[in-house]
Amino acid sequence: MTTKLPVLITGGGGYIGSHAVLALLDAGWPVVVLDDESNSTGVLVPRDVPYIKGSIADRPLVASLLRDHGIGAILHFAGSMLVAESVTDPLKYYRNNTAATLILLEEAVAAGIPHIVFSSTAAIYGAPDRLPIEEGDPKLPINPYGVSKWMTEQMLADAARVHDFNYAALRYFNVAGADPDLRAGQIGKTSTHIVKIATEAALGKRPHVDVFGTDYPTPDGSCVRDYIHVSDLAAAHVAALEKLIERPHENLLLNCGYGKGLSVTQVLDALDVVVQRKVPRVIGPRRPGDPPQLVASNRALVETLDWTPAHADIHQIISDALAWERKLADGILT
Ligand code: UFG
Repeated sequence: MTTKLPVLITGGGGYIGSHAVLALLDAGWPVVVLDDESNSTGVLVPRDVPYIKGSIADRPLVASLLRDHGIGAILHFAGSMLVAESVTDPLKYYRNNTAATLILLEEAVAAGIPHIVFSSTAAIYGAPDRLPIEEGDPKLPINPYGVSKWMTEQMLADAARVHDFNYAALRYFNVAGADPDLRAGQIGKTSTHIVKIATEAALGKRPHVDVFGTDYPTPDGSCVRDYIHVSDLAAAHVAALEKLIERPHENLLLNCGYGKGLSVTQVLDALDVVVQRKVPRVIGPRRPGDPPQLVASNRALVETLDWTPAHADIHQIISDALAWERKLADGILT
């Protein structure tokens, strides 16, 4: 059995990164977290994990921590991730996602890091007209967020051709829920995601849920997305890392979803079932930039990795998110 060298987790204090920290620790991997706390506080990272507050764009810091901690792989989550904000402040996305990753990647290459797992997104596909989306389908992002992530994937692909590393680009669909043991969950400074907003409304933190459009060309008129439990996604990262190590000459491009589309209305109906009452909804206009439907083909994910989803049910996603929201409301983390 090979030695498990420490894994650097950029953005390990954030929502998805903190779940990946837990999944790696559970699988016996030593981890080191680098996080600039732009959308987190470090509170979700277990106390015994080496934690560095800083930016992936801080070249000397990255170079020294790769060396000093003997890092053997990088899971790269750090970045900005709000679609709407990327439209109003595009350069922030090219700076925080593309340009900052260039620095991290240059330092990783210089340090001889052999494996990189990158947080990509379904947003690279834009508004596809064919579902489910296959990894080889056209990359036609419709917002700067998606472009910034697609540019990063291209940097990784070009660099991996000539430098000695392999990589996985995990293209997330709609990530939701919380660690079933409530060790982590979503605590971002701004809530924009539907499951988070819905659970806040269920607990009375907001008066209702806005439904952004019911006139889409979908079965019930609201947008369709492929929701994946954050703990299943975290497990996919561990499996991807282990596959990169097992197959050092292959890269992995994998959609991460369940391959099942749910409309906004279906998600809110599931919330009503979980809380056993009707949480108020207000039907409103479309939100600019929302594609009508995004559903993954996850055939490659399932066939390539040793990964079976353990939480593939929207009711469980919602009830875990709700339990986490209750924990936040109790002030346990503040
Ligand atoms: N929605 C509402 N009301 C809300 C919030 C969202 O109706 O208050 C709707 C949106 O219009 C959309 C759906 O719920 O139709 C999902 O919206 P989210 O904001 O939860 O998620 P997005 O699909 O916009 O984006 C997320 C990630 C992106 C990723 C994308 C891939 O934020 O990074 O999933 O599917 F690219």
